[in-house]
Amino acid sequence: MDQIYPRFVGDVDPEVLYAEDQREAWPHRPWVVANMVSSVDGATAVGGRSSSLGGPGDLAVFRALRGVADLILVGAGTARAEDYGPVRLPSTIVERRVTRGRAPVPRLAVVSGSLDFDLGARLFTADPIVITAEGADENRRRELEAVVDLVVTPGERVDLAFALATLRRRGFDVVLTEGGPGINGQLAARGLLDELCLTIGPLLAGGDSRRILAGVEAFDPPIPMRLDRVLVADGELLCRYLTRRDGADGGR
Ligand SMILES: NC(=O)c1ccc[n+]([C@@H]2O[C@H](COP(=O)([O-])OP(=O)(O)OC[C@H]3O[C@@H](n4cnc5c(N)ncnc54)[C@H](OP(=O)(O)O)[C@@H]3O)[C@@H](O)[C@H]2O)c1
Repeated sequence: MDQIYPRFVGDVDPEVLYAEDQREAWPHRPWVVANMVSSVDGATAVGGRSSSLGGPGDLAVFRALRGVADLILVGAGTARAEDYGPVRLPSTIVERRVTRGRAPVPRLAVVSGSLDFDLGARLFTADPIVITAEGADENRRRELEAVVDLVVTPGERVDLAFALATLRRRGFDVVLTEGGPGINGQLAARGLLDELCLTIGPLLAGGDSRRILAGVEAFDPPIPMRLDRVLVADGELLCRYLTRRDGADGGR
């Protein structure tokens, strides 16, 4: 894998590069990085899953980013579609984390309004935090509360700013969201996204899957991003963008 921007560096190790990036939590919330893969024509899923869009380079960055996260945040749609389970990382990454005082692997958190889960699913062997809203069905809430770590935000739907503030107070300083597009849309709309790592796979996928951000009104004006780094591996582009803050306050 080579770095081609901001300057050429041959044969880079994403595990080292992503671990050395600065990610400083805000006083009121964690640093939030989103990681997504898309085809050249902007598809984020084929047959309802993203696995056929990414190659070895994407997998290496996916793992490197998990390596720097305290918590992985996903929407229930993604957890269901991608059959989320316990987080496993290569031993080199685990060792690096432990040396830096981090837990061996990041915790997993799932956002859900319906709380429509099969408690026997693989997801629950990962001991996830479930983030829901006061508006969720009370019986389901009580049922889940007994078996998982439940975070409840005020209102009908999950308030992601409230959830992130709670996570920060609990010591999660770097949150990696792996989507889906609905979660990314809400985070960006509220100024809660600091970094976007986007893999563009050399594929045309067609279809009508969602873009990497979905479910929100157009941002007018659009949110400016700064291209920080581009790696290339077997035709895959691995881009890192940072949100340009220019005096902003980290969103609410
Ligand atoms: N290409 C990529 O990198 C990538 C990454 C991730 C996902 N994907 C693809 O994207 C698709 C899934 O994405 P998606 O956008 O449809 O789903 P999603 O954002 O992962 O999950 C949507 C679900 O999350 C819950 N949710 C989200 N925001 C909420 C809020 N504010 N309050 C309460 N609940 C909330 C709801 O769960 P309940 O239904 O439980 O209420 C909602 O149905 C899949 O096809 C997946 O393969 C692609």
